[in-house]
Amino acid sequence: MAFYLCLKTIMEKKLRKGIILAGGTGSRLYPVTLGVSKQLVPVYDKPMIYYPLCVLLMSGIRDILVISTPHDIPAFQRLLGDGSQFGVSISYAVQPTPNGLAAAFLIGEEFLAGSPAALILGDNIFHGPTLAEMCISAAAIERGATVFAYQVREPQHYGVVSFNPSTGQAISIEEKPVLPTSNWAVTGLYFYDDEIVDIAKTIRPSKRGELEITDVNRVYLERGDLRVERFSAGFAWLDTGTHESLHDASSYVRTIETRQGVQIACPEEIAHALGYISDDALADRAKFLGKTEYADYLLRLVKKVPSV
Ligand code: TTP
Repeated sequence: MAFYLCLKTIMEKKLRKGIILAGGTGSRLYPVTLGVSKQLVPVYDKPMIYYPLCVLLMSGIRDILVISTPHDIPAFQRLLGDGSQFGVSISYAVQPTPNGLAAAFLIGEEFLAGSPAALILGDNIFHGPTLAEMCISAAAIERGATVFAYQVREPQHYGVVSFNPSTGQAISIEEKPVLPTSNWAVTGLYFYDDEIVDIAKTIRPSKRGELEITDVNRVYLERGDLRVERFSAGFAWLDTGTHESLHDASSYVRTIETRQGVQIACPEEIAHALGYISDDALADRAKFLGKTEYADYLLRLVKKVPSV
């Protein structure tokens, strides 16, 4: 509970807005994603987008923009609505073509309206004991950018960051390098200060025609304003891009949830713990979700709250 109190204090101080980028083509999951957006397919017992949504909630963010394709936006609206069931505000914007992650800040300029931002990719799943604390710390920093790195076996598929061995400071960041200088991949969770839109406007498309988030991060690095937090080995940053990795991610969630009896990425649970939604609202939501394990879980949360 100390964590939630600390989070509330931060939230009262500043207003950071969040963007979930949930467009793209999901072509590695064809034919599944010919009919449905990748970020709506289930990861075990809930839609993929719940996982990044919960990371934003844990970071104390209550104003969220979901960006997706013109075709898929209505399905996200059906799923998430205006966000009131989670005690947050969710709005929507279209990315007409998948022209890169940094485009999120051009599309989201009006939504951000000069606020600092957090961006998370709609297909990124994070799980680990220090996640909430790391997000809260990053959200509390007003100047510069914070990104998160994770050790991977095949860094050439990612943005790769390398560090000065003596100071631990990030010294370079490169998108999909042929010869990676480290095994540290930059994950799909980014916190930026209120200069982010102006910086995104200076980025030009890369050789592959995308506005690269790595180029944005390099601007912060060159200014000496990029913090790179490293996730430890026991932490999970799961891939969901292929049939195998999606299956593995579902198995991971199922294993932990079944064994421990706790949900990974239950937005109602976080909203209730943070006081965004009442016991009654949680019970109503459970009723709406009917005879499901998920609804039973929500009801158990209502019962756990001590009466005053
Ligand atoms: P990718 O995995 O690089 O692309 P994809 O999801 O389209 O999948 P595939 O390679 O199988 O075709 O994208 C990472 C995440 O970023 C994913 O959630 C989609 C999202 N994205 C956008 O929303 N807009 C974009 O312009 C890009 C490049 C990605």
